[in-house]
Amino acid sequence: MKLTRRGWFAGVGALVGSWLSGSRAATWTEERSSNSSLSVDGFRFVHMTDLHIQPELKAAQGVAACLHHIQSLNPKPDFILTGGDLIMDALQQGEERASMLFDLLKKVFRDHNSLPVYHCMGNHDVFGWGKKQGVTEEHPKYGKKMYMEKMELERPYYAFDHKGWRFFVLDSVQPSETELYQGGIDGLQMDWFRQELARKPKEMPAAIVTHIPFITVTVLPDSAKEGRFQIGSASMCAGAQQMAQLLADNNVKLALSGHMHMVDEVSYRGITFACSGAVSGRWWKGVHKGFPEGYAIIDISPANQISYQYIPFGWQAVES
Ligand SMILES: [Fe+2]
Repeated sequence: MKLTRRGWFAGVGALVGSWLSGSRAATWTEERSSNSSLSVDGFRFVHMTDLHIQPELKAAQGVAACLHHIQSLNPKPDFILTGGDLIMDALQQGEERASMLFDLLKKVFRDHNSLPVYHCMGNHDVFGWGKKQGVTEEHPKYGKKMYMEKMELERPYYAFDHKGWRFFVLDSVQPSETELYQGGIDGLQMDWFRQELARKPKEMPAAIVTHIPFITVTVLPDSAKEGRFQIGSASMCAGAQQMAQLLADNNVKLALSGHMHMVDEVSYRGITFACSGAVSGRWWKGVHKGFPEGYAIIDISPANQISYQYIPFGWQAVES
């Protein structure tokens, strides 16, 4: 693995508590086990997804508030794993706006976070696929290049190890002939993933994170159309059944995602598939379909059992 995250580990982490005012949404519990005693051999990390950072709607302050909330947890998480849609947005904006948003994201993390961060890419982080503002395929930062350059990544997918677990951060955003994008893993990345799984010690537990979910109940439509329940190819990754089998065969225990701005936790073939809501809630306009602005805490026990909980951080949207 070749990965650089220069600058992401050197946050200041000051001003703790300055953004923490505001009441929590009544429908969600307080951090019900955030103060639980974890064994020294277990560990905790957080999954914060769908930040959609922008200068508008106090989004940057919201992300900062979320970061301070995360760092005030007891026990403190070992690291932050993001889930994509970091900015709002690159897909349909010109270079200047997209570049500014990535810089804003980096500044907020630099100024308000001291934890290690591993970033995952979402559809809104892909530059120019909407072909708006005069952006064409010939642009030197077109597609995923801007994200990789800003995040100092050689590829939008990579792996890292933490306390006996292996984490695979995958790129689930693929081009589509009919839509702006579709969910899935491209062939080259899938080859890499299969090779990495084969190289991983069989008994070593693992987790994956994708922006677009492989398995989630949040996409289920209320009613059938022409005798079918239909799910868009941009809502879920293609190849869910094969992926679930592959994960089960290789001791991958956890599959985290974002994209839906809703929360679920599905157990299938021994794997926990969890969709972690959104830091931005309804894109910084309040609660989305009953799911408030929040992030997920994942506690791994010494026996490698997974405890997953979604935590609102008490954000009050400026408009709803
Ligand atoms: Fe999103």
